[in-house]
Amino acid sequence: MITFEGVTKRYDDGTVAVDDLTLEAPTGAITVFVGPSGCGKTTSLRMINRMIDATDGRILLDGQDVREIDPPTLRRGIGYVIQQAGLFPHRKIVDNVATVPHLLGWDRKRARARAMELLERVGLDAELARRYPFQLSGGQQQRVGVARALAADPPVLLMDEPFSAVDPVVRTSLQDELLRLQSDLQKTIVFVTHDIDEAIKLGDTVAVMRVGGRLAQMAGPATLLTEPADDFVREFLGRDRGIRRLSFIPAKDVRLAAVPADLALDASGRPLGWRTEGGLLPYGTFNPERDSLRAALDAALLAVNGTAVAVDEDDRVIGVATREALDEVLGQYAARHTAPAPESPWPEEAHRTSTPRAAPGSAGEAPGPDEPAPTDPGPGDRSDGEGPHG
Ligand SMILES: Nc1ncnc2c1ncn2[C@@H]1O[C@H](COP(=O)(O)OP(=O)(O)O)[C@@H](O)[C@H]1O
Ligand SMILES: [Mg+2]
Repeated sequence: MITFEGVTKRYDDGTVAVDDLTLEAPTGAITVFVGPSGCGKTTSLRMINRMIDATDGRILLDGQDVREIDPPTLRRGIGYVIQQAGLFPHRKIVDNVATVPHLLGWDRKRARARAMELLERVGLDAELARRYPFQLSGGQQQRVGVARALAADPPVLLMDEPFSAVDPVVRTSLQDELLRLQSDLQKTIVFVTHDIDEAIKLGDTVAVMRVGGRLAQMAGPATLLTEPADDFVREFLGRDRGIRRLSFIPAKDVRLAAVPADLALDASGRPLGWRTEGGLLPYGTFNPERDSLRAALDAALLAVNGTAVAVDEDDRVIGVATREALDEVLGQYAARHTAPAPESPWPEEAHRTSTPRAAPGSAGEAPGPDEPAPTDPGPGDRSDGEGPHG
């Protein structure tokens, strides 16, 4: 466990980057620090491995003040991953990953074997091991960065915007990969990002920080979405918080209606489409036993009639959820919570016309995540010429 006790960092120029921060990052879990650029995330992270020393307060690693541990020893137990991987450009991938084992005095063969094992672990082809960093894509380089941080099997992993510089599709796969790795490895991870969606996806606990280095709220993702502590957090979570938090509500309470005649099924009872004069139109499915209300809404928005098709494990239709049935659950949920009801998820157009349209294009206007502006994390992040272990 990593414990911050009243930690403050005041830089020489008087900037208070972190102000009286108190929190715990539990062992074996992912704790995310999220907040706008300049709110002190990087500073907080670097105080853990003493790349920066706190002005006031203490940081404890499993109960021991990090200032009592000499930095090289401390960093041996702490992997560190930064934006743009920070790989050594003149070293082959395998040697980049083997850096720390090598420093720890492992013989070359063992260090390389460990590196190869880790490359596979993070989903990289063994063939890439002999290449140089510039020969890899951004996403591949980030994977190498993660592999390198894991090389000495440190119990703690610090990750500073590790996926912020790669495109959204690659970012998603890197996030999935990290969650998969974490379910195997159960490291104590402190993950920094300015992207609230990333924070909610990855964090067991999310610490929202505001500029001035103050903790605004620390909570699990579901609590954060349903009970934001104040206006700052609410605003930071974004306007579509209501929609997003539906991901945490199971769809099992949605009232199902009998399968209507205009839903075409195949011989085994799987859906084919909504029958209209113009032919079959697109449909969306959800599994009430397994999926969230958000999935049910997405399914409804795929169909021109706003009706979601409920299916079982074998994709056989078990009923349908009409718009009214979905609104009912939304309403009940809003009533149980003080939080305001989510804004209407239905596309504007669906309100105005009842004529089914051939193109399912309106689904594309369904409320998607409100992409936070890709704020620049600041020059401090990029200009660090340091290696992974200072
Ligand atoms: N070495 C430094 N000297 C002075 N001010 C700094 C230094 N590093 C960061 N800061 C300032 O401290 C604040 C927090 O920075 P940082 O921890 O990098 O924020 P974040 O990672 O959340 O973007 C910012 O106002 C930043 O300008
Ligand atoms: Mg930063």
